[in-house]
Amino acid sequence: ADAGLVDRFGRTATDLRVSLTDRCNLRCTYCMPAEGLPTLPRDAVMTREEIVRLVGIATRDLGVRQVRFTGGEPLLRGDLVDIVRDCAALPDRPELSLTTNAVGLDHRAHALRDAGLDRVNVSLDTLDPDTFARLARRPFLERTLAGLAAAAEVFDVVKVNAVLVHGVNAEHASELLAWCLERGFELRFIEQMPLDADHRWSRDGMVTAAHVRGILAERFTLVPDDAPRDGAPAERFAVLAPGPGGGSSPTATPRFGTVGIIASVTEPFCADCRRTRLTAEGAVRSCLFAHTETDLLGPLRAGATDGELADTWRTAMWGKAAGHGMSAPGFTQPERTMSAIGG
Ligand code: GTP
Ligand code: 5AD
Ligand code: SF4
Repeated sequence: ADAGLVDRFGRTATDLRVSLTDRCNLRCTYCMPAEGLPTLPRDAVMTREEIVRLVGIATRDLGVRQVRFTGGEPLLRGDLVDIVRDCAALPDRPELSLTTNAVGLDHRAHALRDAGLDRVNVSLDTLDPDTFARLARRPFLERTLAGLAAAAEVFDVVKVNAVLVHGVNAEHASELLAWCLERGFELRFIEQMPLDADHRWSRDGMVTAAHVRGILAERFTLVPDDAPRDGAPAERFAVLAPGPGGGSSPTATPRFGTVGIIASVTEPFCADCRRTRLTAEGAVRSCLFAHTETDLLGPLRAGATDGELADTWRTAMWGKAAGHGMSAPGFTQPERTMSAIGG
């Protein structure tokens, strides 16, 4: 009865991503339509108590060790600090992290840290205000940067996520990396996945990991990290300053920091996936690209016991697909956009 979240392919999910809301204050082109999406009615979304109960089941009964809060934009939850505090008080305290666009994070970074949040990942695609407004369709670069600066003050580990788009921000990838290295942020370049609202994604239009490595190689020396990847989506590289004349050996040049590349499309890591997800409506989603979800919130509200909910969760994960299948013939994009699934 105390088996973890194991699937038919022998993978065990120990990493839970909880979407706290489907709402967002940005409209990133790769994630949401310009006009937004119909938002869920308030009572369709998990309450703080419901979230904490399900996270408690995941950590106590199902072997989950890491919990990441996502959205939409999780900072739009007025009770985010309370949710973090309650989850940090669970008996088998998981590592707690947040993926956010950082708009408004400057006002809450301290409270979140004090409540028990361990680290944050901030989405930042560009340092140019016009490019930001074009990608996010909102002129909030300054607010994002203020949030990121506040995060850097209070958290030991801050990662930055950038989705690259040709002709928009891809050409400035090295600049963004230099800026992050100076500040000690671990930047990760992310291959865009077909989770946009407009279904404009195309494999040919996407910026690939190989392309990013090519761009970065013009300015930096990247040395693959040999630490075990442990299911992490990012392939990490030590970034070395280019040697004099660009020719010195990596060992002779100072280490600048770390960069990651998340190549979900061209170099999938599905075989080592350790993720399970809860949507804002309290359904288990076994994979970003799953076409079905398993409701837990309905049964929870109808009086199901922790044991029953844990069993339902296990059954849902047992059916997890081998991979996202993006390269398989007949692949179809999920109904939900990234904003509605929660990164
Ligand atoms: P760390 O533990 O800090 O490494 O977090 P993370 O990289 O798992 O989380 P984050 O929320 O920052 O996600 C970064 C990117 O990873 C997202 O933008 C997605 O592109 C990608 N990603 C997240 N979850 C999945 C997943 O289940 N499958 C795939 N293929 N990509 C994912
Ligand atoms: N493909 C890849 N990453 C995406 N994100 C949003 N939409 C996509 C997509 N279509 C990223 C955001 C954020 C994280 C939650 O997911 O940039 O960092
Ligand atoms: Fe909002 Fe994040 Fe989607 Fe951008 S990527 S629209 S910040 S949920």
